[in-house]
Amino acid sequence: MASNNNIVEQIQNSIDIADIIGERVKLRKSSRGYMGLCPFHNEHTPSFHVYTDTQSYYCFACHEAGNVFSFLMKLDGLTFPEALEILAERAGVALKQYTRDKNSRTLYDVMNIAAEFFTKCLLSSQGTAARAYMKRRNMGASDVGKFSLGYAPNSWDALTNYLRKAGITDKMILDAGLALENSRGIYDRFRGRLIFPVKDVAGRVIAFGGRVIDGDGAKYINSPESEIYSKRRNLYLLNDARKFIRERRRSILVEGYMDALRLHKAGFGEAVASLGTSLTGEQAELLSSYAERCYICYDGDTAGQNATIRGMYILQTHGLDVHVVNLPDGQDPDDFLTANSPEKFEQALRDARPLVVQHIEVLRPKLSDPMTRKQTLNELFSGLSELSHDEVLQYKAQLSEATLLPPSELEKKILHDTKELHTDNSKAPVKAYDDLPEAAFCAMILRSRECRLKVKPEDIYTLLKSNTAQQTASAILDDNPDTLPVMWLTTGDTEKTALIARGEEFCRSISGDKWQKIYGELMTRAVNERMNEIRAKMTTNSATLSELQELCKLQKQKDMYIV
Ligand code: UTP
Ligand code: MN
Repeated sequence: MASNNNIVEQIQNSIDIADIIGERVKLRKSSRGYMGLCPFHNEHTPSFHVYTDTQSYYCFACHEAGNVFSFLMKLDGLTFPEALEILAERAGVALKQYTRDKNSRTLYDVMNIAAEFFTKCLLSSQGTAARAYMKRRNMGASDVGKFSLGYAPNSWDALTNYLRKAGITDKMILDAGLALENSRGIYDRFRGRLIFPVKDVAGRVIAFGGRVIDGDGAKYINSPESEIYSKRRNLYLLNDARKFIRERRRSILVEGYMDALRLHKAGFGEAVASLGTSLTGEQAELLSSYAERCYICYDGDTAGQNATIRGMYILQTHGLDVHVVNLPDGQDPDDFLTANSPEKFEQALRDARPLVVQHIEVLRPKLSDPMTRKQTLNELFSGLSELSHDEVLQYKAQLSEATLLPPSELEKKILHDTKELHTDNSKAPVKAYDDLPEAAFCAMILRSRECRLKVKPEDIYTLLKSNTAQQTASAILDDNPDTLPVMWLTTGDTEKTALIARGEEFCRSISGDKWQKIYGELMTRAVNERMNEIRAKMTTNSATLSELQELCKLQKQKDMYIV
């Protein structure tokens, strides 16, 4: 593995910023490089310049500027390590030490060869029945390429033999999850199934799902977790969907492979599918970096189930604004679009209920039955207690009507049961750094020029208490923030990168105006501390007149920030 020092250098030497930006922005040649329409704001005449000599970009209209790393971080909402991984992959620089065979092939290569094999089979005479099945499910030839679909022949060793011939060892085939093992050797995991490859955000095949087309066995089988595949951290079709999610400011989360695929075909490119797991915070974080609003469209029969509702609260507390789409009589999106037009689906999205309202509606029959009312109220409030005051108070009227609690009593209960600043307590802090608001403050000023402009240099010392946070923040305000993470990485300054990572994670768990909440929290703390100091002096009669005046000023300041 390359050392940190030359990873960034190697990447910069082997990648041209114009190639990376050119994939996202239509560029035309200009004197010092290229220009095009700025992807960071809406414009009709190009102000966005890409300079090949300095490998940087600058927009003369909105003043966004940076290098190839900051471009991906800002446009795709990636963290620095994520951008680094994607660019390292593009540059062919080994970042993580993946297991390799003697020909230096990784599991990614094995998955890729397998995906090509499956597609070849689908298009050959072996794939006749699978193609007929696709047709019955409203899929055609163009979908094969678009979604990299394939067919696993009904054989114990077709893929295994193919991979062996390509020089892949049995161990790699097993590690990739493509084969199973018994006393007689290894045999294909996927047999006689239509294959849906799962890709990561960098577009690499990391897993497969296989649907039975006839015969018996489970309806779907899936790749197991592996060195390169974590179910919790990936979503089916996210690689295609993220551009739409960003543009349309919403994602649509469905249960099934077929549902996501069908939605893409119907024009809803912002759809992704969870991969047969319960909903996870990691999935929420993936989605919330592209758009906050998420429409969950699960089968009618699962959307109201307790486990699913609980999953939705997890998504909501990890930074998503969850709305629940209800389709008629247990239909899934694929069924719905077979019977209805895309416009009807759009209508269903418009009718979607905010999570709290959905929860109320699901529980309504049990709330109005005196036998179950008390227990159901507890159930409702155990969900609501995950959320912040503001999130719940919005639905005061609906809650009061459904729970039959008078508004004043209800409001008291909400303020008592829900959280002030909504944080995720379920995660252990990363490394030693656990002052989340301080970390979040640093992450936000690193990421956003707008936030940097709101900070005065002296704020750093009044708002931040830890040395690491103070040093990190002052570096961000003094240096070029776009290149700082690269520098920290190359100098091995892991304390600062850990702090930023922790801060970004915390930011994602906050909904609403993140800056106001974080800044407000730090300001409140600082003000309280100083006020206590002065009050302590007052009790010993040692406070000066100017300190007493300061106390009044602080009280006013406090009223401004604490609503
Ligand atoms: P469903 O049973 O709702 O199937 O499972 P579906 O998506 O509607 O599939 P079709 O329309 O019958 O082809 C939803 C998802 O749950 C996982 C798969 O990810 C599937 O897409 N699943 C389901 C499995 O992993 N294994 C199974 O046996 C069934
Ligand atoms: Mn279905």
